Amino acid sequence: MQQKLVIANWKMNGDITANYNLLTKLMGSTQISNNTDIVICPPSVYLSQVQDIIETSQIKLGAQNVCSAISGAYTGEISIDMLAEFDCQYVLVGHSERRSIYNENDKEIAKKIIQIVNAKQTPVFCIGETLTQRADNETEAVILSQIKYIIDIVGLEYFKSVVIAYEPIWAIGTGQTATAAQAQEIHLIIRNYLNGLDAAAFSGLKILYGGSVNASNADELIAQPDIDGFLVGSASLKAESFEQICLAGQAKTESIQPELTPV
Ligand code: PGA
Repeated sequence: MQQKLVIANWKMNGDITANYNLLTKLMGSTQISNNTDIVICPPSVYLSQVQDIIETSQIKLGAQNVCSAISGAYTGEISIDMLAEFDCQYVLVGHSERRSIYNENDKEIAKKIIQIVNAKQTPVFCIGETLTQRADNETEAVILSQIKYIIDIVGLEYFKSVVIAYEPIWAIGTGQTATAAQAQEIHLIIRNYLNGLDAAAFSGLKILYGGSVNASNADELIAQPDIDGFLVGSASLKAESFEQICLAGQAKTESIQPELTPV
């Protein structure tokens, strides 16, 4: 059975006091079980602080970005080896904000995925369609072309290590979530496509949903068979709502445990 994976993307939010308060509250929750992998992606200046706080907990550390080059004259960038020093295990790549605000293109994203996999960390590869593309019935084509383009560059050997985060762009930070049915439909298309390429390689594939996930919609979303967890932005900034989202993952895992037969 797959572990559920819930990743907090703090984006450019937080400060030393707020980070401490949020994480200690979350770590104090006795309800969050081992059935859910929880990852925090803070702004990079707080990686060290977060690493120290979560050290004794089950929570893992992730990064919001990495440079596609190994080292050198790249002012303002952070390398994969630097992330490894903080024991980062996941790195977001291809987030729509990086694609649209910082003009990150598929080639750059592919290079980052190669760096991340080489460093034995897990790329969290974000894909998603715009509202216009959805209205024009282009969602499937857009999603699959985002995947195909990267596979063409990195190859399946690398791509099989990614976690995919399906984040419809129109749902990110807007409070407008894809319905559970809309999300499930796309997750299944992604899974079927990758299974068609190599079912064995993708047998453990995790596909996360992202885009205005909150404490109220997480249960319905996680109940979908092809939603394996969440990438959470604004609702990850409050311990209470993030905890509820993590628990939604736990409820799914528990609800599908086989019943014990009394002896
Ligand atoms: P949101 O952000 O939950 O605030 O919509 C999700 C994301 O951008 O990863």
